[in-house]
Amino acid sequence: MVGWPWLGVTFDLLRDPLGLLERMGREDGAISEMRYWRGSRVLLNDPALIEQVLVLQHQKFIKGVLLRLTAQRLLGQGLLTSEGELWRRQRRLAQPAFQRARLAAYAPAMVELTREQAADWRHGETHDMAAEMMNLSLRVAMRTLFGVEPKSESRAVGQALTAIMRRDLRRLRSPLRLPAAFPSPANRRAERGYALLESTVTRIIEEKRRDGAASDDLLSRLVEASGEDGARMSPRQVRDETMTLLLAGHETTALALAWTWYLLAQNPLAETRLHDEVDRTLAGRLPAPGDLDRMPYLAAVIQEALRLYPPAYTIGRSSIEPIELGGYHFPKDTVFLISAWVTQRDPRYFAAPTAFRPERWLGGASPACAAPQGESGGASPRPGAAAAAPEGFRYFPFGGGPRRCIGQPFALMEVGLAVATLASRFRFRLVPGSVVSPEPLVTLRPKDGIPMIVEERR
Ligand code: HEM
Repeated sequence: MVGWPWLGVTFDLLRDPLGLLERMGREDGAISEMRYWRGSRVLLNDPALIEQVLVLQHQKFIKGVLLRLTAQRLLGQGLLTSEGELWRRQRRLAQPAFQRARLAAYAPAMVELTREQAADWRHGETHDMAAEMMNLSLRVAMRTLFGVEPKSESRAVGQALTAIMRRDLRRLRSPLRLPAAFPSPANRRAERGYALLESTVTRIIEEKRRDGAASDDLLSRLVEASGEDGARMSPRQVRDETMTLLLAGHETTALALAWTWYLLAQNPLAETRLHDEVDRTLAGRLPAPGDLDRMPYLAAVIQEALRLYPPAYTIGRSSIEPIELGGYHFPKDTVFLISAWVTQRDPRYFAAPTAFRPERWLGGASPACAAPQGESGGASPRPGAAAAAPEGFRYFPFGGGPRRCIGQPFALMEVGLAVATLASRFRFRLVPGSVVSPEPLVTLRPKDGIPMIVEERR
């Protein structure tokens, strides 16, 4: 790719990272390389090659350098960031707690907290649905993952994460940067954010320790579980897993919800079809996990929202040995990018790729809720579009292979129950004149929120 000799595409990366990724994926095809001041990155936009990296040759890769640089301070050696034997042990310990059948116990809390979130909403009021959904999913995470009641920090956690991601990503992308300790407004906001997250995690762990007896929340199950050697988690490991679950467990789910409302508001036909299905299935009562299997259109709506606005829009991997991919040889330490944003919007893999069409997932394709949950993962269901597309990974909002998202069933249950609960009472309209644009931080955030007008349906 053309760029300045040393800076490469640094300016594009700072100005419009999503546009840059898209151009690479469209113009340069299956494999494209970008150079910027920090080195180079190779974007893979081919389902078969993506499957090679995530599944078939996964043992030749570790997580990408970006995740390590941005997340290490927060997540330490938690499930998302650890490697090798430590990761394998933690994943084995955690897996049973994430099985769909066990997660059903959390459904009533998910529904109750959703209703509470909307309890004060009145017809005609404007709410920032991005902030509302962040707050909701954080409260759900606090209660179900940790068994503690959310306090006033709920809203501040979202802001803390934004400040951290904005500052840290800018430092990674730009060659001109102040030391992190320099007291600029951005640095001060980010450091305050780190302090807030740290104190939230400390509060969670202390409350659990004080309460003593093991409760039924996910963290307790994880801490109580011991490995084959009988060893329990060290205090440092408990801190890292708590922070990992807190962040991985609420941020992406909130974004999936927020983007779903945004897309529904712009597609009234889909919205009406969803309302019909929800009304018919629930007949005025609150949703339970079993209802989700009886609402295929709801599943398709969520699946389609995750296609167009994948919260984890890029996955990175670094090769730990030389590797051949697509006829090219890459040395050890090559950094590969795999982008759900690019591939899931590619016209080679999806007809009318930018259109919101939940129908494309109906008629034979199994909904996202039924995607494999096993250790090996695998390609997500085949959409009914682009019959000539090559096999493999065209749709992977939860990643794939051994490092596939462990929280997928949890997230899909939460999003499904929250959408069903709210859609049976409300519709949401974008405030006229507001511009909603995605901001690619570590996750795909709506840059200035999603201001929406609440309309009561009944
Ligand atoms: C819509 C919501 C979610 C999306 C889109 C999402 C997406 C992802 C993706 C793409 C990965 C793979 C990253 C990689 O391969 O580098 C991942 C991993 C992970 N996710 Fe999620 N996630 C979501 C919800 C959750 C929830 C609710 C939890 C926990 C309750 C969770 C916990 C994790 C963990 C612990 C990992 C690391 C797994 C491992 O490496 O073994 N996620 N997620």
